[in-house]
Amino acid sequence: MGAFTEQQEELVNSSWEAFKGNLSQNSVTFFKLVLEKEPGAKDLFSFLANGVDPNNPKMAAHAEKLFGTVRDAAVQLKTKGEVVAEAKLGSVHIEKKVTDPQFAVIKEALLKTIKEAVGDKWNQELNDAWEQAYNAMAAAIKKAMA
Ligand code: HEM
Repeated sequence: MGAFTEQQEELVNSSWEAFKGNLSQNSVTFFKLVLEKEPGAKDLFSFLANGVDPNNPKMAAHAEKLFGTVRDAAVQLKTKGEVVAEAKLGSVHIEKKVTDPQFAVIKEALLKTIKEAVGDKWNQELNDAWEQAYNAMAAAIKKAMA
């Protein structure tokens, strides 16, 4: 994997803006995809206890935090070539007993949600930039969990 380029950072930044521009709808898309693949997520996220409720502000707030953290990974990759996660992110995910397969579920749902959010602006490079940023942040969180 080569260095993370300015162009890749720009692809992530512009699609992050598109994601936030329709946050409510995009967070519904995201958590529906998560629940399809991982019904157990219902018991992990307090705001999913009654399924996906578009009117629950906690759901959108969480999606914004999660996608924003991956966007931050893109910025870190571009500026310092590596990603470090806050210690708190390690402890939150230890507490919730998050597993490796769940990281793959979240990645797939995130990439599909970005694809929907950007519509005809989607392309493989954009997808790969998000995937690279996600993989780096996932590795940093797992390191913080170890
Ligand atoms: C790169 C991947 C991930 C990122 C960037 C991420 C990001 C975050 C962030 C920013 C928080 C909030 C921490 C806070 O409140 O300060 C959080 C909490 C949490 N994350 Fe993750 N996460 C990731 C992967 C996962 C995975 C794979 C799962 C399991 C399905 C998961 C489950 C949770 C849960 C259950 C919480 C607590 C939510 C609550 O407050 O109810 N996360 N995550």
